[in-house]
Amino acid sequence: MACNHGDHSVQFDMIVAADDKMGIGIAMSLPWKLPTDRKFYLDKTNKVSPTKKNALICGRLTGSVSQGEKNPNVLRFILSNTLEQKPPHADYLCKNLDEALAIIGSPEVRNVVDNVLIIGGYAVYKAGLESPQLRRYYITRVYGDFKCDAFCPDVDLTKFKLVSDPDIGSHVYEENGIRFKFEAYERI
Ligand SMILES: NC(=O)c1ccc[n+]([C@@H]2O[C@H](COP(=O)([O-])OP(=O)(O)OC[C@H]3O[C@@H](n4cnc5c(N)ncnc54)[C@H](OP(=O)(O)O)[C@@H]3O)[C@@H](O)[C@H]2O)c1
Repeated sequence: MACNHGDHSVQFDMIVAADDKMGIGIAMSLPWKLPTDRKFYLDKTNKVSPTKKNALICGRLTGSVSQGEKNPNVLRFILSNTLEQKPPHADYLCKNLDEALAIIGSPEVRNVVDNVLIIGGYAVYKAGLESPQLRRYYITRVYGDFKCDAFCPDVDLTKFKLVSDPDIGSHVYEENGIRFKFEAYERI
């Protein structure tokens, strides 16, 4: 599909669960089992208007571990500079975030896309934080150090502010002995 670079009309959110050290994964999987966080993720990524799909953007590794989640509500964009062919679990293979956003903003795709979310990992979140098209960064703060080997960037509080969200509240949850809370940030 042709790319219309420079289309700045597409806004997106990012969603992550991170520990005290901004750790997000270990040995290519999540370090915790938190059903309420899982439900929050699925609500954000799967809830969609009846005739539309959500666009999920992720790096090659996150794409390979979440491939079982392929579902009809989602268009999956994988970012990679080494893959030569689109993996079977992906709908689009892109060289960078701008290319993915340009495809999403193109006339053919724009009309079928509802929400656009970056779902990881590190370099994709980093590119997202640098983009003026970022609307909201959802971070589930998981208390503790889970000795992760994959991380996400934290927000720069000189550039982003915590925002209140009726879906989120300030409740601290505890599941499987792990405490966590939901936060949402927007650019100042
Ligand atoms: N806790 C959470 O919310 C959460 C969310 C997502 C993932 N995870 C965990 O995080 C880990 C995977 O994340 P990760 O950071 O290691 O890897 P990743 O971002 O999923 O994949 C890294 C690869 O993606 C490609 N890539 C990333 N950013 C790109 C960009 N801006 N432009 C072009 N290509 C880009 C590159 O592929 P090439 O090398 O092919 O160029 C890069 O080597 C797993 O453990 C997973 O379980 C956790």
